[in-house]
Amino acid sequence: MSGPDGPAVVLVGPMGVGKSTVGRVLADRLGTTFRDTDTDIVATSGKEISEIFIDLGEPHFRELERQAVRTAVAEHTGVLALGGGAVMDEGTRALLAGRPVVFLEMGVAEAVRRTGLDAPRPLLAVNPRQRWRELMEQRRPLYTEVARAVVATEGRTPEDVADAVLDAL
Ligand code: S3P
Repeated sequence: MSGPDGPAVVLVGPMGVGKSTVGRVLADRLGTTFRDTDTDIVATSGKEISEIFIDLGEPHFRELERQAVRTAVAEHTGVLALGGGAVMDEGTRALLAGRPVVFLEMGVAEAVRRTGLDAPRPLLAVNPRQRWRELMEQRRPLYTEVARAVVATEGRTPEDVADAVLDAL
């Protein structure tokens, strides 16, 4: 299932889709560890993601994210979850080519429901429903481009989704 080296599974998809929850279940099933790039960024920068966005701006965050993805893909052999916007970087998409990448998918209505209309996430601070529509429109093709498999998450438990991911790879 895994490639010659690198992560056994890479999860991509929008924020709130359950990458971390499903990733932990998957890691458990595979007897390996879970890692996620947002956590790595917080650990190395000493700042919360929202602080980085507010104090340093999104371009700075994207640079930290680019580096975090490269490091994690090189070092980690377990399950890796990427932040929802990581696939916007062309170099990151190239790095993911040929790897066991799974797109965890949900629709806009579900995204709004799961993250809440007043979510504290920096990208959804203003007009979340409209922002979700734009984000999905922009990113869905990118998730699809990098993914070896697409797994729908709506109406499924994290365990069911993890099973579907294992079946798909
Ligand atoms: C973002 C998703 C977040 C985090 C940041 C930006 C995005 O990660 O990286 O808030 O651009 O979609 P999760 O997908 O893990 O929530």
